[in-house]
Amino acid sequence: MLTNRPRGTNDIIPGEVEKWQFVEDVIRDVCRTYGYREIRTPIFEHTELFKRGVGETTDIVEKEMYTFIDRGERSVTLRPEGTAAVVRAYLENKLYTGPQPVKLYYIGPMFRYDRPQAGRYRQFHQFGVEVLGAHSPGIDAEVIAMAMEVYKRLGLRGLELHINSLGCPECRPKLRERLKEFLHTRLDQFCPTCQDRFERNPMRILDCKNEKCRALAAGAPTTLDCLCDECSAFFEAVKEHLEDLGIEYVVDKKLVRGLDYYTHTAFEIMAPGIGAQSSVGGGGRYNGLVEQCGGKDTPGIGYALGLERIILTMEQQGVKFPPAWRPDIFVVTACAEAERTAFKLLSKLREKGYKADKDYNGRSLKAQMKYAGKLNARYTAILGENELKNGTAMMKDMNTGEQQEIPVDKIPELLGGK
Ligand code: HAM
Repeated sequence: MLTNRPRGTNDIIPGEVEKWQFVEDVIRDVCRTYGYREIRTPIFEHTELFKRGVGETTDIVEKEMYTFIDRGERSVTLRPEGTAAVVRAYLENKLYTGPQPVKLYYIGPMFRYDRPQAGRYRQFHQFGVEVLGAHSPGIDAEVIAMAMEVYKRLGLRGLELHINSLGCPECRPKLRERLKEFLHTRLDQFCPTCQDRFERNPMRILDCKNEKCRALAAGAPTTLDCLCDECSAFFEAVKEHLEDLGIEYVVDKKLVRGLDYYTHTAFEIMAPGIGAQSSVGGGGRYNGLVEQCGGKDTPGIGYALGLERIILTMEQQGVKFPPAWRPDIFVVTACAEAERTAFKLLSKLREKGYKADKDYNGRSLKAQMKYAGKLNARYTAILGENELKNGTAMMKDMNTGEQQEIPVDKIPELLGGK
C-alpha cells in the first residue's frame, strides 16, 4: 500500500519527465506565437460549478467526478476538466472588463474516476485553450489551427480532424423533437442510463459508449439535419477558413462530444492506431456557458488535449524526443586533498551555466569514472596531486577517450565556451 500509487495515476520520473518538458515547451511556444496567455486555476472547485457547467446528464458528472465534503462541510470536486473553471475565473476576476476576446491557456492535472486503461487515467493532464468574448468563424478556425500546429510541431503524423456543428438554442428544440421521435420506438432496448437521459437530454444518447446503444442510435437524425440558417452559414465559414489554411478535416455528423456546454462548432482530433482511446484532443464553441455560470451572454470557444495520450502516440509513432539530461562535465578527485578544489571548480562551472556534477559517496577513482560514464558525461575533469600543484585538470573526452592536461581556467573553452 505504502509503495503503490492510487489506481489510474502515474509517476513521471526522470527519463520520462524530459518528454513532458519537451511537449510543454512546444505548447508554450505555440501559445506565445498565437497570443494566448497562461491562466492557473485551483485543482478543486465548488462541485456546483461542474454540475452546472459540464452538465448533470454527462458521464463526467454522473459517474466520474472526485467529489468530497471538506472539513467545512462544503462539497468540492477535483476538476474533471478546465473550461468551467476558466469561465468561473473570467467572471470572478472580471476579465470581461479588458479588451476582448481574452485568449487563455492552461496545462495541469485533471481528475476523472473512470476504468483505467492505456491512455485513460484517473489523474491525467490537459493542455487547454479558451477564448472568451468572440463569436466569429475565424476564431474557431484559429483554435483548430493552433491545435493542429501543436501536433505538427510535436512530430505527430496521420491525425484526423473531425468537425461538426451542434447548432444553437434556436435549432436544439427541433433536434430534440426529431431525436425523441426516432428513439422512442426502440427506447426499451437502450441501456438504463440512455433511458434515463431520454427525457432530460436525448442528445446524450448519441454519446453512449455502449455498443448496443450505438447500433440502435445509428441512423438517428443528426445535428446537421436540424441547423438553422445562421448556424449553417457559420459552419460553412469555419470550413472555408480551414480550407484557406490548408487544414484537412472530415465532417463527422455523429460527433456530439461528452460535455453539455457545446454549441455550434465541435471538433475532435483522432490518432488512428492507438487503440480505444484514440481521441488526442477535442473542443468546441460554448456560447451559453458564461451566462449559465452567472455572467452576461458571452461567446466562448476552446479545446483541450491529453498530454499522456499525446506522449503515448508520439512513442508509438517513433517520434524522437530530445536526449535526456547529461552533464557537460563530471569532476573526479584522484586524492583526498582534491576534494575542496573539486567542489569550488564545480561551483564555478555551474555559475557559468555548465551542467556539472561530482561524486558525493566517497567512490574510488575507478568507480567515479564508471559513475560519470553512467551519467553519460561529455567530459571528466580529473584532479590529482599533480593537477592540484599545477592548477590544471586532466580532461578526458568520454566519447573518444582522449586525455589532455589543461589549466583549470581553460576548461570552459574546451567545453565550447559560454
Ligand atoms: P474532453 O474531450 O473531455 O474535453 O477532454 C479533452 C482531451 O483530454 C481528450 O481528447 C483526451 O485526449 C484527454 N482525456 C480526457 N479524459 C482522459 C482520461 N481519463 N485520461 C487521459 N486523457 C484524457 C474537455 O475536457 C473540454 N474541457 C475541452 C474544451 C476546452 N472544450 C472547450 N474548451
